[in-house]
Amino acid sequence: MRKILFASSEIHPLIKTGGLADVSASLPAALARQGQSVRLVMPAYQASLNKLDSVKTVATVKLDGYHRPVNILESRLPQTDLLVWLVDSPEHFAREGIYSQPEGLDWPDNAARFAVFCRAVVALAFDHAGLDWQPDIVHCHDWQTGLVPALMSQQPNRPATVFTIHNLAYQGLFDYATFQALDLPQSLWHMDGLEFYGQMSFMKAGLVFADHLTTVSPTYAREICEPEYGCGLEGLLQLRHQQGRLTGILNGIDTDSWNPATDALISRQYSAKTLRFKTDNKTSLQQRFFLPPREDVMLVGLISRLVSQKGIDLALSCLQTLLDEEAPIQVVCLGSGDKSLEQGLRVLQARHPDKVAITIGYDETLAHQIEAGSDVFLMPSRFEPCGLNQMYSLRYGTLPLVRRTGGLADTVVDANENNRKMGTANGFSFQEPTPAALLLTLRRALSLFAHPRIWRKMKLTAMQSELGWDSKARQYLELYSRLDLDA
Ligand code: ADP
Ligand code: GLC
Repeated sequence: MRKILFASSEIHPLIKTGGLADVSASLPAALARQGQSVRLVMPAYQASLNKLDSVKTVATVKLDGYHRPVNILESRLPQTDLLVWLVDSPEHFAREGIYSQPEGLDWPDNAARFAVFCRAVVALAFDHAGLDWQPDIVHCHDWQTGLVPALMSQQPNRPATVFTIHNLAYQGLFDYATFQALDLPQSLWHMDGLEFYGQMSFMKAGLVFADHLTTVSPTYAREICEPEYGCGLEGLLQLRHQQGRLTGILNGIDTDSWNPATDALISRQYSAKTLRFKTDNKTSLQQRFFLPPREDVMLVGLISRLVSQKGIDLALSCLQTLLDEEAPIQVVCLGSGDKSLEQGLRVLQARHPDKVAITIGYDETLAHQIEAGSDVFLMPSRFEPCGLNQMYSLRYGTLPLVRRTGGLADTVVDANENNRKMGTANGFSFQEPTPAALLLTLRRALSLFAHPRIWRKMKLTAMQSELGWDSKARQYLELYSRLDLDA
């Protein structure tokens, strides 16, 4: 049994802006199922504290670079046995919005907020909080935890560190004055340290100092070694790859929460054996949004953060073309983000109110209903480290239509003739991030949708995909044990 401290800035259901939160809950649960001793640590956001019934203060620590002592709170992740520590620094975390202010701008003190979080994680890693538990492995996630491996590297007899990249595009960049204000060791300010073209990079801190790097799909692990996806860090990542210190491990999904056979949030539960009941979910979705309840139109679902990464602009232009030419489709879309993309979706709905339903916002119940009720799930991402929604879609027999990048390339098998013959096709994919390529693929989907037998076969193949965490958690365990051997 290994002791693993799992540090993340978001953990579902306590706080979530994206897939990081899902993974930060479901991967530790899988590691615990495999007999590991796992503790989670996250910031004590006000919204998270509001969701916990019982929280106790278990330690008070004094951290470098911050004048007030910080409390460590302890609780259990709801509906699990997982123990979670929350770093309670009200000056930094007792406010609305996790990374940004309600109007959308990043909090100006994000560097200080996540530096305090990182320093508290380091205190727990060395058991300076006196909790009588010292991890063998500290597993960090994304830029908000990047300083952890850097600060730990300065101390002897430390646990091993793993840093997982969920999205290289968000780097936590701040100016040199901020670096100085954080009172970090001056020796870290170096081209081979935190300095990145004159700025301080939290992400680079993680990449440089962690013993091992992982990212959330094998394809993204290769892509980030290339300039197109490497965000300026490709040189360092190539080196880590050559050293055997960068591994791509595909995410799993929580197959209990996302299970059409037991999902209490959808109108009618169904499985591969009762696939005909999926149609009831389509009808309910159409009724909810006052779309004509027709079985013969292809219902396209989309759930996303509305940002350029997700290729929403490509989706908008192609859907508009198909709707204008009266193609037999309907569109149900849920998301929020860039105001211009939100507006683009609203315009599409205004032009075709009988075919398009848009919900701007965040709604977990509706997300389940869209997964269950759609025929096709659209995810034309420009880049996608892993992507969870295409996997939820596979599980619900809703065929994903994706760009062939990152985790989308690793999970979706295109319905070309060969793959259909082999019985492996479970969705649709295209390569070039252009409206022309997406449009062609939507048309291919439409033509296969007209063949219910072929479509049904693909739905069944999709629903049989192996999507759970168990085999993925084993890959992490193998990696942890290699680090023990190196230590
Ligand atoms: P990313 O983390 O880049 O946003 P992922 O596909 O990994 O992409 O994860 C997105 C997660 O957030 C999924 O669980 C998805 O269902 C959820 N999600 C995104 N937008 C919304 C929304 N508007 N309402 C409900 N859930 C959403
Ligand atoms: C990031 C990525 C997404 C991935 C998620 C969980 O938010 O954008 O592709 O699925 O992290 O690893």
